[in-house]
Amino acid sequence: MNEDLACIEKVLFSEEQIEARISELALEIEERYQGRSLKMIGVLKGSVFFLAALARKINLPLRIDFLGISSFSNKSGAPGLVRISKDLDDSIEGEDVLLIEDIVDTGFTLRYLLQTLASRGPNSLSVCTFLDRTSRRIVQAPVDFRGFEIPDRFVIGYGLDYNQLFRNLNYVAVMSLPRTSDLL
Ligand code: IMP
Ligand code: MG
Repeated sequence: MNEDLACIEKVLFSEEQIEARISELALEIEERYQGRSLKMIGVLKGSVFFLAALARKINLPLRIDFLGISSFSNKSGAPGLVRISKDLDDSIEGEDVLLIEDIVDTGFTLRYLLQTLASRGPNSLSVCTFLDRTSRRIVQAPVDFRGFEIPDRFVIGYGLDYNQLFRNLNYVAVMSLPRTSDLL
């Protein structure tokens, strides 16, 4: 048993739905990058499951690298401070970079990552997120490819965690807890 699954309120996306959507995304990405090679950058740790599934369906020459980040709140409790805790192994200069996220919520993390990566001279820089919660966006952050739009509820599974647990569920579920803002 994976910790206490009693906290799962409902399954939002089943394994089959996720697989089907990832196949569609892979086709979109293939079309967009036809004739080029891709550098996929995964943001640890949440995007790992999505990246692995997506990369295996993309029929293009591609390389993979990872970035680790930590987010914190400032003294007043406002979110938005992000720091790189594990940098990329390789340069991205001149490369076609596709940043892979697990979820874009307020947009603070993504905005920070885009600013940082853009300063390193990639040929192009786009974003593919597994989940998108646009209803909570605070700062503008462009998303080029998205798996699913989700409601304002805290979700777990397929890479997304609660206290580092539940990442290994092969579906995405809503946790039976009140509101996203109570947990982040
Ligand atoms: P943002 O900077 O607010 O867009 O933060 C996005 C980050 O918050 C994600 O990379 C996740 O680590 C975390 N996060 C946001 N919503 C959820 C959720 O519903 N479940 C699990 N993690 C979440
Ligand atoms: Mg996280």
